Amino acid sequence: MRKRKVAILGATGTVGQRFIGLLAGHPWFEISALTTSDSKAGKRYGDVTPWHWAGEMPAAVADMTLEATTADLDAEVCFSALPSEAAERWEAELAKTGHHVFSNVKTHRMDDDVPLLIAEVNPNHMHALDVQRRKRGWSGSIVTNGNCSAIGFALAAAPLQKSFGIERAVVTTMQAISGAGYPGVASLDALDNVVPFISEEEEKMESESKKFLGRWDGKRFVDAEFSFSAHCNRVSVRDGHTETVSLTLRGSPSPEAVKNAMREFRGRPQELRLPTAPERPIHVREDRDRPQPVLDRDTERGMAAVVGRVREDPAMGIKYVVLTHNTIRGAAGASVLNAELLAAEGCLGS
Ligand SMILES: NC(=O)c1ccc[n+]([C@@H]2O[C@H](COP(=O)([O-])OP(=O)(O)OC[C@H]3O[C@@H](n4cnc5c(N)ncnc54)[C@H](OP(=O)(O)O)[C@@H]3O)[C@@H](O)[C@H]2O)c1
Repeated sequence: MRKRKVAILGATGTVGQRFIGLLAGHPWFEISALTTSDSKAGKRYGDVTPWHWAGEMPAAVADMTLEATTADLDAEVCFSALPSEAAERWEAELAKTGHHVFSNVKTHRMDDDVPLLIAEVNPNHMHALDVQRRKRGWSGSIVTNGNCSAIGFALAAAPLQKSFGIERAVVTTMQAISGAGYPGVASLDALDNVVPFISEEEEKMESESKKFLGRWDGKRFVDAEFSFSAHCNRVSVRDGHTETVSLTLRGSPSPEAVKNAMREFRGRPQELRLPTAPERPIHVREDRDRPQPVLDRDTERGMAAVVGRVREDPAMGIKYVVLTHNTIRGAAGASVLNAELLAAEGCLGS
């Protein structure tokens, strides 16, 4: 695979910094541009960016000069971690000027010609790009990630939808503070507390989960048909979204059958051995008190969903807990994996 130049849009933020960590030394992608709001453009990245993650800021990145986001960035691929207003302004412009945009932002997720992709779950949604390019006249493209909680739900539920079919789902999330970006939730609201509201989150979980688990029929996306109810909560955890999930599945499979379907689940990233792919997208644990964010969020470098407590639910059929790292599997890592998949499948040009 030849190396492609990549830009990180919103490189100073929570997700932008994750991209930098994941792309350091990447075999297929090299960072050629880092963008910021206009006030920091022209400044050295290392001088104006407080680094949020363990380990050092990569030296080569620290020395790069921040740029404003524009449509003529020197990159083939753009990883977008922009605030939504900036994404509305720039993502389509960049696609129009030939860039392949992999976005974490809500702006285009539900567009009827934009793939909302989890590389293991719905890889054939990438074929919507033919329609997108034709309809919009773009030489580039936009592919989006889902909301970080919707990714966690859909990744663990995908083998169950495939093996049995989902009829009903009730999900309660316990979402980390880093999901709100930096500085995120005020410390006096977050500490010692649970906030039982995250703006638009429950609606996004429902619509995005149905798009992820639905299909592309060659002309349009067809949503998966199941009833869905989400309760979304912000909890005092730094990284890692935990979700308790209750499902009614067709045929009422046993907990053992559910665990086996999850354990055996593999996708195109595993077949193609993509650089960022986890060996197993879902790890199923038997311990009675796992997964826990502090112990399990970094499983397979933060790219695997960790499921535990799979058991019968007297009201719904089956219930379990799923944990995913929100800024890696739920954001930057998922975008990098999507870009690797499209590169390997020849969808980014030769
Ligand atoms: N955090 C998560 O877990 C998560 C998960 C999934 C999706 N997302 C989505 O990903 C996006 C980024 O989230 P985040 O958590 O990283 O937010 P964040 O920490 O607030 O970072 C956003 C960054 O964008 C920069 N920015 C503002 N205007 C810009 C422009 N015109 N061009 C380039 N950069 C600009 C801002 O910084 P400067 O002023 O310093 O340049 C800021 O550092 C959001 O749309 C969010 O909804 C986040």
